[in-house]
Amino acid sequence: MIPAHVPADRVVDFDIFNPPGVESDYFAAWKTLLDGPGLVWTTVNGGHWIAARGDVVRQLWGDAERLSNQCLAVTPGLGEVMQFIPLQEDGAAHKAYRTPVMKGLASRFVVALEPKVREVARELIEGLRPRGECDFVSDFAEILPLNIFLTLIDVPLEDRPRLRQLGVQLTRPDGSMTVEQLRQAADDYLWPFIERRMAQPGDDLFSRILSEPVDGRPWTVDEARRMCRNLLFGGLDTVAAMIGMVALHLARHPEHQKWMRHNPRELPAVADELMRRYPTVAVSRNAVGDIQIDGVTIRAGDLVYLPSVLHNLDPRSFSAPEEVRFDRGLTPIRHTTMGVGAHRCVGAGLARMEVIVFLEEWLAGMPEVRPDPERPVTMKGGNVGACTSLPLVWNP
Ligand code: HEM
Repeated sequence: MIPAHVPADRVVDFDIFNPPGVESDYFAAWKTLLDGPGLVWTTVNGGHWIAARGDVVRQLWGDAERLSNQCLAVTPGLGEVMQFIPLQEDGAAHKAYRTPVMKGLASRFVVALEPKVREVARELIEGLRPRGECDFVSDFAEILPLNIFLTLIDVPLEDRPRLRQLGVQLTRPDGSMTVEQLRQAADDYLWPFIERRMAQPGDDLFSRILSEPVDGRPWTVDEARRMCRNLLFGGLDTVAAMIGMVALHLARHPEHQKWMRHNPRELPAVADELMRRYPTVAVSRNAVGDIQIDGVTIRAGDLVYLPSVLHNLDPRSFSAPEEVRFDRGLTPIRHTTMGVGAHRCVGAGLARMEVIVFLEEWLAGMPEVRPDPERPVTMKGGNVGACTSLPLVWNP
């Protein structure tokens, strides 16, 4: 049923998990909403608002007072099951949890991790180069962030295949696991590490965060689990999705591959522009107060969906937004790929470094790559849109 406060001209029939045509182009599928009003109500998935213009997306994303993060609403059951910390906390509690996480991911640790990211990327590239073809998603994009995460929490190499299975379910769920089973599998995997780090801190990410007090007191076991779970779920499929999109761009634009090879010092700016151009995360909020915006009222209790794609690819936010222009002079906070405001991604610095190192190593280690003309690129929608298959070819 459509609530009485939703004007008829705002009603659409748009499934955020399966926008029309998403299998071939996630961005084009979403962009169809840019032609309508700035805020629409979709009847699908129980009924909720979708911010559909750049300024509306950005303004609502920054409104932590009236939009709560507690439920992760639009995906049924996800919020109740996951209970992520800090993602699903609001206000003062959120700040108390977020501060130690920010400290644990501070830029000096990101800088220290860079050689390891480089090593993992190089190793993967050396394995791929002689083959002349790959599916970039399963052969690279899913592996790099997983290995980086495991390095961050100081997990032995021989343990990796087990989390790899879990990583695949996180990035490409095939319906064989419920949300509860996924959480359980993640917790079972993470628990021995959390327990050890709480008893005997080392210099890994979990130890750093867990040895910082929450509001002046130690983390409880339950909070520690929820926080580690948030890092695992927050840092794998997002990075895999981003690196997949960046590789797709390279493959479709040999002229950019060439330019980048000749201008390696520009790669940090290139990474910022590519991260703007390929935003794949969308978030849910629950209204806890009424909000007047774009000529309508969001009522307390309504669900609101904020897709970064409709900010970054709105021509009213960025001129010719689909063009990749390396001279835009962007700062990473101008676009919403990593969110806005109180919950802006705590892993943003790490993710940016992973993209830069990927570009550097890929361009240094690989010849020109192109999409495989025989096999299609496929994509999926959802809270993290991504390529599900990205067949590439090159002359070894
Ligand atoms: C390109 C890769 C990434 C993208 C696109 C991304 C995107 C985002 C976005 C949009 C948010 C805001 C969520 C909201 O407003 O509700 C967020 C939050 C978060 N991200 Fe990321 N992320 C990435 C990588 C990472 C990594 C590598 C980590 C950790 C290792 C991470 C951990 C988190 C956490 C813990 C939060 C919650 C922050 C809070 O609630 O205060 N993310 N991310």
